[in-house]
Amino acid sequence: MSGEVLRLEGVVIRREGAVLLGGVDWTVDEGERWVVIGPNGAGKTTLLQVAATTLYPTEGRVEVLGERLGQTDVFELRPRIGFASASVAEKVPSGETVMDLVLTASYAILGRWQEEYDSTDVGRAVALLEALGCTELVRRRFATLSEGERKRVQIARALMPDPELLLLDEPAAGLDLGAREELVGRLARLAEDPAAPAMVLVTHHLEEVPPGFTHALLLRRGGVVAAGKVDEVLTGGNLSDCFGIPLQVEQHNGRWYARSALA
Ligand SMILES: Nc1ncnc2c1ncn2[C@@H]1O[C@H](COP(=O)(O)OP(=O)(O)OP(=O)(O)O)[C@@H](O)[C@H]1O
Ligand SMILES: [Mg+2]
Repeated sequence: MSGEVLRLEGVVIRREGAVLLGGVDWTVDEGERWVVIGPNGAGKTTLLQVAATTLYPTEGRVEVLGERLGQTDVFELRPRIGFASASVAEKVPSGETVMDLVLTASYAILGRWQEEYDSTDVGRAVALLEALGCTELVRRRFATLSEGERKRVQIARALMPDPELLLLDEPAAGLDLGAREELVGRLARLAEDPAAPAMVLVTHHLEEVPPGFTHALLLRRGGVVAAGKVDEVLTGGNLSDCFGIPLQVEQHNGRWYARSALA
């Protein structure tokens, strides 16, 4: 696998005449922690769905965990990928409990049916929920949780199969300030853990970039504005190009901040 967990070459996604991704080249190596940033509609969720093997490119080549999309059984590949996204959450069956939602990640499925889970699986699910501060929620139905509770449960689910690639689409969206800071702290600790999988985190806000994240990719209208080491990519110039307004960027103690350069 040569340390590479993800490789996109000339990836184009077209839907109903629209170009969602317009020729994206990108590689993610083992041990890297990426943030993907860009305005609404830039193609961030689309890009993550390609990495999660739930969306096939119209053109181009995709390799995930050393397997080429189109030439591999994605049902074997998917349990090796942790994926948390609103696009997954909205497909959760209404009666699904938090425990079952986390357990079923072992098979990369939604909705518990007749699979057998042993006590090791159950123990791991409980430990992950506990690590994410969700001990009280184990028996609740996912549909009844608050936004912040849902986000934490989804991260526990994404980590359940001990993935080699962890994909998080806007994990801090809808969280209050305290919950966001707590999540940023948890993700920073995960980023520092050498045993943790390669990570890709989509966000709209520089304030949500956890310390320890190593790389950044800026997307605008389906194209890559900049990609590489976080210090080189998260500059005022690049962010201004990405969002189409003059922005200034600051960094303090590993955290990032952006605001209008005009204000
Ligand atoms: N089936 C489709 N047909 C046409 N356009 C589509 C289709 N699906 C998605 N799009 C468009 O593709 C673009 C990229 O969508 P995507 O969800 O990847 O954006 P995003 O960067 O995640 O945005 P956000 O920040 O709002 O979540 C959007 O403009 C969206 O409207
Ligand atoms: Mg999105």
